[in-house]
Amino acid sequence: MRSIIDTVDLTTQEIDELIKTADDIAAHPEKYAEKCKGKKLATLFFEPSTRTRLSFEAAMLELGGSVIGFSSASSSSASKGESVADTAKVISCYADIIAMRHPEEGAPLVAAMNASVPVINAGDGGHKHPTQTLTDLLTIKREKGRLDNLVVGFCGDLKYGRTVHSLINALVRYEGIKFVLISPQELRLPSYVRYDTLDKENAVYEETSDLEGSLPKLDVLYMTRIQQERFADFDEYERLKDSYVLTVEKLKKAKEDMIIFHPLPRVNEISVKIDNDPRACYFKQVLNGKHMRMALILKLLTEKDYDKPLLGDDVIANVYRCENPRCITSSEQEIVHYCRKAHSDDNIYRCVYCDKKVK
Ligand code: NCD
Repeated sequence: MRSIIDTVDLTTQEIDELIKTADDIAAHPEKYAEKCKGKKLATLFFEPSTRTRLSFEAAMLELGGSVIGFSSASSSSASKGESVADTAKVISCYADIIAMRHPEEGAPLVAAMNASVPVINAGDGGHKHPTQTLTDLLTIKREKGRLDNLVVGFCGDLKYGRTVHSLINALVRYEGIKFVLISPQELRLPSYVRYDTLDKENAVYEETSDLEGSLPKLDVLYMTRIQQERFADFDEYERLKDSYVLTVEKLKKAKEDMIIFHPLPRVNEISVKIDNDPRACYFKQVLNGKHMRMALILKLLTEKDYDKPLLGDDVIANVYRCENPRCITSSEQEIVHYCRKAHSDDNIYRCVYCDKKVK
């Protein structure tokens, strides 16, 4: 049994196989209509979602399985003070697989450590979102025919945008990827992505605040929403919220075959006038997401003999405490504070749940 908390939990070969399965599902849905008959997916969504939750649910239904779950913390026992660990143990008695979204970073990892069924991270705070990444990889592959030798621009909220963190984490493993990181100064990538992913893999990247100047060189433009719900200071959100709006006029500077992504929901980052442009792929991403989640659920429910432990033997317990108020360690009862050495520096230790520096 295995859980998917981060894209690094999957090898490149496994990602390739998931892409192949997703393509086969799209071409021959009838072949898969009963593959998960008798199995139950629990969607535990402690934070609002339209696409991701319904995409997981549609995926399981199209595999012939059934779905239970809740769509807000207020309709679960979390509102009575139940821990994530207990919730995971309880739901393991009802379901064969769990998809969890939670506002606190690391919550799905805690669930996976306590569940007796596979747990899929469906988004944890401003941290990671691996199934959106698998969706994005599938979409890049379908649209561009390859996952290597691309100039990929990420634009908007690179600090809190979990889809950005996970996709960078996955793309660094492919040859010839250049990253153009476009954001206001205040919303640049967190250091664990910059140092421990990009620098660790010797990735080629530039940081800029200039969208228009960057457009001509991009093969993929990944627009994101400024993540209002993660801001402690509402005035700062108000000041930054309209930082980037892709318009028909600006798009004239882009390559004819640049593809435009957005994980959605869109607020105003992409003019609706662009929706009919052949380069706009954000609604295709949604459909691809269902196929990819079908492929992933099927893999996790049928995989045998997977015995890799969730935490490697490089973790140390209860030596340094995580002080990040957005981390699951801030609210979960009697949690073990695990951390490990950062890849970039032997003197830095990072929390295993949220990746923030603990020493
Ligand atoms: C994203 C998310 O929830 O992180 N949406 C999604 O899952 N497709 C992006 C966002 O909320 O801005």
